[in-house]
Amino acid sequence: MMKISIIGSGYVGIVTGIGFAELGNEVIFVDIDESKINLINSAKPPIYERGLKELMQKNKERFYATIDYNEAINKSQITFICVGTPPNPDGSINLDYVKSAAEALGKALKNKKDFHTVVIKSTVLPGTTEDVVKPIIEKESGKEAFEEFGLASNPEFLREGNAVYDFFNPDRIVIGVKDEKSKEILEQLYNSFNCPKLITDIKTAEMIKYTSNAFLATKISFANEIGNICKKLGIDAYEVFKGVGLDHRINPSFFRAGIGFGGSCFPKDVKALIAKAEELGEDPKLLKAVIDVNEEQPLRLIELLKKHIPDLNGKTIGILGLAFKPDTDDIRESRAIPIVRILLNEGARVVAYDPKAMENFQNIFPQVDYAPSEKVLESDAVLIVTEWGEFKNLNYKGRIIIDGRRIEKAKEEARIYEGVCW
Ligand code: UGA
Repeated sequence: MMKISIIGSGYVGIVTGIGFAELGNEVIFVDIDESKINLINSAKPPIYERGLKELMQKNKERFYATIDYNEAINKSQITFICVGTPPNPDGSINLDYVKSAAEALGKALKNKKDFHTVVIKSTVLPGTTEDVVKPIIEKESGKEAFEEFGLASNPEFLREGNAVYDFFNPDRIVIGVKDEKSKEILEQLYNSFNCPKLITDIKTAEMIKYTSNAFLATKISFANEIGNICKKLGIDAYEVFKGVGLDHRINPSFFRAGIGFGGSCFPKDVKALIAKAEELGEDPKLLKAVIDVNEEQPLRLIELLKKHIPDLNGKTIGILGLAFKPDTDDIRESRAIPIVRILLNEGARVVAYDPKAMENFQNIFPQVDYAPSEKVLESDAVLIVTEWGEFKNLNYKGRIIIDGRRIEKAKEEARIYEGVCW
């Protein structure tokens, strides 16, 4: 059993913390947001994540949240920094939250006598832990890293919506360390996991995270580019990738061609890696193409729509799905955003439905009508933007459906059906 503190209770922090609690550890969440603290202390999830609520209820004796860094650091032996690293407008990574967490943590560490390990779980570019976080903590605490306190990188590979499952079933655990004590404590913490555990130096661990996300994003853009060619040839890209994915060197997952990737990770991380590469004097051609393909992909849905309704002005267009993927209310970088923007610009009336993300979407698009799926299906044409499970059971008979995510029932039933890559 270990005493752990977690800074930042976004989906990575809260799932990691509750996961550790389920494994028998004691966890203290530190956050600057009072409303999040109150929710956590009443064992309620601050974000929606499948299975989280149940785990919080079950383990409520093993965790609590506070605004007080001193208390959290003094009462724990290891701290995970799990704050967000959002993109700057130029695509580079914004480290403000990481820096302020390091600063507050360093101040709290100053008065602590026992050895303490600090682990960066936030996605940060290679070099950040040692070049940015380390000097801040050293300055604020007056202590020397790797001697008087430990510092490590332990990137997460959690998918939003599947984060609880992913926490308990990782493909691998990556531990980037320099000091022996932190290595031991992290190995002990992850002792009960059976997956491969990779011990590297700190910046290699940071790079593994970026490379994983960049490769997955590349796989999707590749699938989409091939899918666009397939569409012109009258070939079903899904059948093609079934055949391709059977090669064990390639693997079948992440070949779902469609309207591209969104979310808080892939677009941001690929752009940050591009910015970093350019700063180093490299021209990352492939990574730039991954972003280009991804930005054009949603426009193809509109092109296909216009094949059937050339003038969108005054027409009612339905949207099924607003979240960046199913099982989340997150709309960050959702492909629905550029699609709805174009439709509105062209004078269409937009009626949209999403099982969880309508409220978030309404904050940026108040002019859209939000309605149940049956109502959305009555529109002049309907675009499928997110592959929610419940869309597999809708009645598409007699409708014009332009599908960006491959819903088989729509393909079989619609009066007019167009798939973006099939
Ligand atoms: C992603 C990674 O999958 C996680 O391993 C990683 O930990 C996380 O980023 C992160 O860096 O924190 P996530 O963004 O939650 O997780 O979502 P994914 O399930 O990977 O989907 C990302 C986007 O790709 C979605 O918009 C999805 O619709 C799209 N996608 C995914 C496709 O278009 N085709 C596919 O075949 C797979």
